[in-house]
Amino acid sequence: MNEIEEQKFYSLKIKEMNQNKTLKYFILTMGCQLNENDSEKLCGILEQMGYQKTDIQSQADLVVLNTCCVRENAEDKLFGKLGELKRQKEERGIMIAIGGCMMQEKHITAKIKESYPFVDILFGTHTLYKFPENLYRALKEKKKLEDIIDIEGKIYEGLPIKRNSNIKASVTIMNGCNNFCSYCIVPYVRGRERSRKPKDIIEEVKELAKQGYQEITLLGQNVNSYLRVEQEKAIEFEPYQGVHSFATLLKAINKIEGIKRIRFLSPHPKDFTNDVIEAIATCEKVCKLVHLPLQSGNSKVLKEMNRKYTKKQYLELVEKMRQTIPNLTLSTDIIVGFPGETEEEFEDTLDVVRKVKFEQVYMFLYSRRVGTPADKMENQILEEQKHIRFNKLKDLVESQIEENNQKYVGTMQKVLVEGESKNNKDLLTGRTDSNKVVIFEGNQDLIGQVIELKIVSEHMWYLKGEK
Ligand code: SAH
Ligand code: SF4
Ligand code: F3S
Repeated sequence: MNEIEEQKFYSLKIKEMNQNKTLKYFILTMGCQLNENDSEKLCGILEQMGYQKTDIQSQADLVVLNTCCVRENAEDKLFGKLGELKRQKEERGIMIAIGGCMMQEKHITAKIKESYPFVDILFGTHTLYKFPENLYRALKEKKKLEDIIDIEGKIYEGLPIKRNSNIKASVTIMNGCNNFCSYCIVPYVRGRERSRKPKDIIEEVKELAKQGYQEITLLGQNVNSYLRVEQEKAIEFEPYQGVHSFATLLKAINKIEGIKRIRFLSPHPKDFTNDVIEAIATCEKVCKLVHLPLQSGNSKVLKEMNRKYTKKQYLELVEKMRQTIPNLTLSTDIIVGFPGETEEEFEDTLDVVRKVKFEQVYMFLYSRRVGTPADKMENQILEEQKHIRFNKLKDLVESQIEENNQKYVGTMQKVLVEGESKNNKDLLTGRTDSNKVVIFEGNQDLIGQVIELKIVSEHMWYLKGEK
C-alpha cells in the first residue's frame, strides 16, 4: 500500500465510524492561491470521509483553518477566529483542526498550545496528505495531535480533490521556494523548491479538460524556474512530451484539446528567459496578462530584498516582453516601507509604476516576519510613514486604472463567462484575457463559454459589456 492508499484506508474507517450521522465541515482558507489549492485537496479528503461542506461555521461539526503567515494581519485574524471557536467548542463539542503555512512557525504553534489548548489537530504544509490518519487518531483516541515536519516534504500525487469551480482550475506545478527574498517567510514554511513530474501535471490537465474545464492556472512560488533545481542538481526526472522546463510545459499544455485559457502565478523577473517569453507569445491559449512582481523600483532596495534584478533590468525586461508579446498587459506586487527605504528610493517605485502602467497592482505594507533577514534590519520604517507612502502609491495606481479602463470602452473583448454576478443575479460575470471583470446581460447557457462582448462602460473594478 502506498502512502495515499493508506490514507484512503483511514478515510474509509472514519466514514464507517460516522455512519449514522451526516457530519458537516467548514473550511476557512486564509492564504494565496496555493493555499486555496491545498484547501481543495482537504475538501476532497473530507468528502471521501463522508463529511459534507457547509458555508455556515456554526453548523459545522469539524472546522478546518488553512492558515497563511506572509503578513502580520494573518495572525490577528487567526487568533480572533480561535476566540470565536472556543465558545463553539464548549457549546457543541466541535472538532478544530489548523493547518497551513503558519503551523510551520514554532512560536505560533507554541502559542496555540499554550493559549488555545482546545484545538484538536495541528498539521503543517508537508503533512496535509496525512489528514485522514490524524483525524482518525484524534477522534478515536480522543487526544490532541500535532503533525508538523520541518523537512523538504515529498510531493504526493493522487490526493482526492474537490474544486471550487467547474470552469477554472488551479494546478500546482511546484512546491516551495529557494529565493529567500529577505522580507519573505515563504521559503521557511514551504520548504525547498521541488517540481512535480511533467507527466503528472499533463495528465491532471488532460483530465480537467475531459471534465469540461476551460481555464487552467499553473501555480508555484517561482513558476518560471520549473524543473530548474532538478536540472541543476541532476535529479532524475522523466521528460514527458518534450517537457523539461517552464517554456516547454506551457507549450505542451497549450496543445491539450478543450482547454481555452492558460494562466500562471507567480513568475520571477530573474527567470524570465527568452524561451518563456517566446512561449507566451506563440501559445495562443496562454493569456497575455503576465504577473511580474516588482516589489520595489529602486535598485538598492531590490538588492537588500535579495531580488536579483535592478530597476534598469526590470524595465528592460518589460520592454523586451512588450516587443515580443502582442497585446501584453502586466500586473505586479509592490511592498511599501521595506527597512531603510528612503523617500527618494520610494520615488523610484512610483517612477516604475508610471512608466509600466500596470493593469493591476497588489500593494502591501512591509510586515516584519520572525526569522527573516529583513526583520533583523535596524532601520525599520515607522508605520505612519508606510501608510503615507502606501496612499501615494494607491492614488497613482487608481488614476492609472481609471485611465486604462477608458481604453477598453468601445473595444471587443473575448470573455470567459464564469457565472451569475454576485451582486445582481440577473447579470452574468466573466473575465477578459487581461483578467478584467466584465458584467453583462445574457443567458445562463453562456456560462463556461468564451464569447465576444463589446465594452460599453467602465467602473473602477469592472467593465460593462454587451452582446
Ligand atoms: N512567490 C511570489 C509570491 C509571494 S507572496 C512572488 O515572489 O511574487 C505574495 C506577495 O506578498 C509578494 O509578492 C510580496 O509582494 C508580498 N509579501 C511577501 N512578504 C511580505 C512581507 N513580509 N511584507 C509585506 N508583503 C510581503
Ligand atoms: Fe517569497 Fe521571494 Fe520566494 Fe516569492 S520568490 S515566495 S517573495 S522568497
Ligand atoms: Fe501562500 Fe501565505 Fe503560505 S501567501 S504560500 S499561504 S504564507
